[in-house]
Amino acid sequence: MKVTSSFNNYLVIDDFLKEDELKNVWLELDFLTNKSIMLPPEKSSSARDTLTNVILKKNNVIFLDDVYQNRETSHIFNVFQKLRGEELTDIIEDLPHEFKYFKYIGHDRTFISYYEDSDYYKPHVDQAVLTCLYWCNKSPKSFEGGNLTIGDEQTQIEYKNNRLVIFPSYNIHSVDVIKMGKENVPFSGLGRYTITKFLFVNPKP
Ligand SMILES: [Fe+2]
Repeated sequence: MKVTSSFNNYLVIDDFLKEDELKNVWLELDFLTNKSIMLPPEKSSSARDTLTNVILKKNNVIFLDDVYQNRETSHIFNVFQKLRGEELTDIIEDLPHEFKYFKYIGHDRTFISYYEDSDYYKPHVDQAVLTCLYWCNKSPKSFEGGNLTIGDEQTQIEYKNNRLVIFPSYNIHSVDVIKMGKENVPFSGLGRYTITKFLFVNPKP
């Protein structure tokens, strides 16, 4: 785990998961990457344009609490307990403003987003306190794009395998279009994965 950049409105950490942790995450992602489990935009609480109500994204999503009755049975939930570990808590302790909420987090909503050719997420804000995005892809990487643009100053954070990005959820952000070869088979698993945690201060309702 190494801090790549940290500013007022975002934190980027590379090499977040170790090889054995990532191996377990992939076992689960491979199982979950399935058209019958993943939800299209109209069924996955997508952000919408406030004026036109048009859905702002194209990707597929799985809410992990809909899959598991017990979080302890999921590699992903187990591995991402690392988010609340001492190393990351110490890093965030030194960050300003809304990052201070990190130590008061009461519950989270966890989901996987999977992007393939021509998928995107247009500018929006998340309805949470802090947003954690963890990115991963199969090697060799089979797509271009998928970078994150964040904040009013439109800073671009490059998509990178095994990268974690955390930011206060009110920051406007977007994911640029993914480009894959046309020969890609849908749900091939060669696309761009994000494991997202929306963090909330209040306890689970
Ligand atoms: Fe978002």
